[in-house]
Amino acid sequence: MKNIWIIANWKSNKTISEALDWVSKVGPQIPRDDNLKVVVCPTFSSLSEVKKAVTVSNFPLMLGSQDLSPFTAGAYTGEEAASLLKDLISFSILGHSERRKNFAETDEIVAKKVNEALANKIIPVVCVQSEETPVPKGCSIIAYEPIWAISTGLTNTPGVGRADNPADANKVAQIFKQKYGPPAGGLDVIYGGSVDSTNVTGFINQPEISGVLVGNASLDAMEFIEVIKECLGEAN
Ligand code: PGA
Repeated sequence: MKNIWIIANWKSNKTISEALDWVSKVGPQIPRDDNLKVVVCPTFSSLSEVKKAVTVSNFPLMLGSQDLSPFTAGAYTGEEAASLLKDLISFSILGHSERRKNFAETDEIVAKKVNEALANKIIPVVCVQSEETPVPKGCSIIAYEPIWAISTGLTNTPGVGRADNPADANKVAQIFKQKYGPPAGGLDVIYGGSVDSTNVTGFINQPEISGVLVGNASLDAMEFIEVIKECLGEAN
């Protein structure tokens, strides 16, 4: 059976207490299933408290950051080096379109961040916006996120968003796998862009798609639990 990744991208949201409340609700609901890999990516400010809460309760919830520095540790004011994050996280979302657009992040910068992540045993989850987006060497998971499909469900109402068509997303996933998959190494492709509990199974059911990156719908604990339940229903 293929891996099913469900990655929550909180973006710039949640105080520490809101983050801990979410973990206390979602953590106990995550089934222990080897093929189901649930990851939460909080802000830097709540990473350490979330890590403690997950560890104390031994929840099957892994942690990721939403970015990391393209530099090593040192005189880089405001940056979070991979070597400083590695005790807190196993994953890092890199090259998200919001960072490319708002922080002028280029493919070269993304590649540097990927190198820093890999050097510190952090698994990069590189976001690709189109078939042309390059995937840096060493990536084992990428998230296909067409820009026009991101956060369209701004009302927070499940089903309102304009996600990509699952079959079209599957075709793009296939193209990336042909370009970057075996024999160079395995590549899991996940989909992101207005995923919620009402549309997630459409993506999970696609043969080339191994999970989802969930932004807006991951903020609400109950909705995120529904996303997990829907995926598990399909996986088993
Ligand atoms: P969305 O965000 O689920 O709110 O569309 C996904 C993402 O930007 O990673």
